[in-house]
Amino acid sequence: MTSQEADQQGPIVLILGAPGAGKGTQAKNISKALSIPAISTGAIFRQNMADGTELGNRAKAYMDAGEFVPDAVTNPMVKARLEAPDAQNGFLLDGYPRTIDQAYYLRDALAETGRDFDLVLEVSVDFDEVVERLLKRAEVEGRSDDTEPVIRHRLEVYHEQTEPMVTYYADQDKLVQIDGLGTVDEVWDRIYKVLDEHNLLPQN
Ligand code: AP5
Ligand code: MG
Repeated sequence: MTSQEADQQGPIVLILGAPGAGKGTQAKNISKALSIPAISTGAIFRQNMADGTELGNRAKAYMDAGEFVPDAVTNPMVKARLEAPDAQNGFLLDGYPRTIDQAYYLRDALAETGRDFDLVLEVSVDFDEVVERLLKRAEVEGRSDDTEPVIRHRLEVYHEQTEPMVTYYADQDKLVQIDGLGTVDEVWDRIYKVLDEHNLLPQN
């Protein structure tokens, strides 16, 4: 496939970052600006938990403990989601991949359809700020994994398992780090600039 044909399939963007970095918040802005669906593995699990599906029941104990749901559950779920009609003209992945094994799985799943991702955004925010944000969100949304011990554990897991994966993307020259401190609009302005620089905004 030529790169022009790949471009016609629409942008594929990944957003990475620690719990509370603002992935979900900025994913909404990116999704709107690029007219692509924002696919959050965490949101899919939470929806399944709320609906009481078998997938939700399998994910619940891991999520409540701040552990990753096993790849045997997560990877096929992502693959199926990426095969849905609305993901055929590009998509944004929020919170996947999170481990080097998931990154390889995604690479192979995209390669099967002759595709590759365009950009990886890593939103970085310091430890104290994310803890504060998530404790605040706990009061508003009551997410079962937003308790202080579980937040701390999620941050440890991110540091141990996801941060090393970031190097894999940095080595491919498709990684852009975004300073996630500041207001939501300030962070969005930074991301918008990067999307523009990478010619990912719709041309019209
Ligand atoms: P997931 O749902 O992905 O949660 P997370 O990574 O812990 O991140 P959050 O959703 O808590 O934070 P966010 O970065 O989206 O920030 P947000 O925009 O909400 O995953 C949950 C769990 O699911 C995992 O622990 C795991 O169990 C499982 N899972 C998910 N993916 C998996 C995978 N690939 N493999 C295996 N298991 C997986 O912002 C946070 C708060 O801050 C909000 O209240 C927001 O309003 C506020 N905020 C945002 N931006 C700003 C700002 N600039 N200033 C002030 N406040 C802000
Ligand atoms: Mg999120």
